Amino acid sequence: MIEVKGLYFSYDGNEVLHNINITIHDGEFIAIMGENGAGKTTLIKHFNGLLKPSKGEVLIDGVSTREATVASLSRKVGLVFQNPDHQLFSETVFQEVAFSMRNYGYPEETIRRRVNFILETLDLRSYAETSPFMLSGGERKRVALASILVSDPKHIVLDEPTIGQDHQQKEKLKNFIVQMNTQGRTVIIVTHDVEFVVECRPKVILLSKGSILAEGSYDEILSDEDLVRRASLVPPQIGLLMSSLRDLGFNPATLDVYQAKSAIEKRLLSNVSKTL
Ligand SMILES: Nc1ncnc2c1ncn2[C@@H]1O[C@H](COP(=O)(O)OP(=O)(O)OP(=O)(O)O)[C@@H](O)[C@H]1O
Ligand SMILES: [Mg+2]
Repeated sequence: MIEVKGLYFSYDGNEVLHNINITIHDGEFIAIMGENGAGKTTLIKHFNGLLKPSKGEVLIDGVSTREATVASLSRKVGLVFQNPDHQLFSETVFQEVAFSMRNYGYPEETIRRRVNFILETLDLRSYAETSPFMLSGGERKRVALASILVSDPKHIVLDEPTIGQDHQQKEKLKNFIVQMNTQGRTVIIVTHDVEFVVECRPKVILLSKGSILAEGSYDEILSDEDLVRRASLVPPQIGLLMSSLRDLGFNPATLDVYQAKSAIEKRLLSNVSKTL
């Protein structure tokens, strides 16, 4: 469980997080959303102790991050940075992804099997012997992701995982994230990608100017146009469509393309049967 209690944080006297209170239970799927500079990255850097609260506390499975080392917290909380270049340093993709497992002392055979599985899953197998710095931005991002996911942390925190990923890679990423969550991992993503959130259906925490603006299910939060715009996000396309058809009786909280399709189909069929 990740508990954030009365958290305030300042960079050199400049307060950027104000009284944040959040409880994230084991196995939950959370999206933290909000405008540029809202404090999302600053908040999640508290989850593995990279930053310590100026006031208040953060507890990981009951242990305060003030009392634990970043190394021990990182075994529990795998954090993938927004910018992969802040994370990558090895000579080859294989070595990069194997690094944490080697550090934890896993047998070489287990490491090889696990690294190859992750590389395969994230479409990186053919780059195993390539330098991570020779890869494209989207590929480097996936290497950073693989290097954290390989050691299978209990809580996974991904800062802007979809940036630079094409449609096909996003789809694979979504399936993988959802699968990890279904298997019991806590997943926390920081993202501006409303369509990705609609597809993944997490609980949403909206952060604005260093404070929590709202918290709730993805459809509750993302169908509230006022709230969404206050957090500098764009409402999901299907939500906008259904909202514009509100006068015809459509539900603006329908954000999913398949639900929208079935609502429209139902209406068309009932109109057809009336005209017969
Ligand atoms: N190392 C730092 N030193 C000083 N100020 C910082 C530092 N990192 C971030 N800030 C400031 O703290 C505030 C919150 O930044 P943060 O990176 O947490 O925002 P964010 O919500 O992740 O934004 P984005 O969507 O652009 O990634 C911003 O005003 C930023 O300028
Ligand atoms: Mg950020």
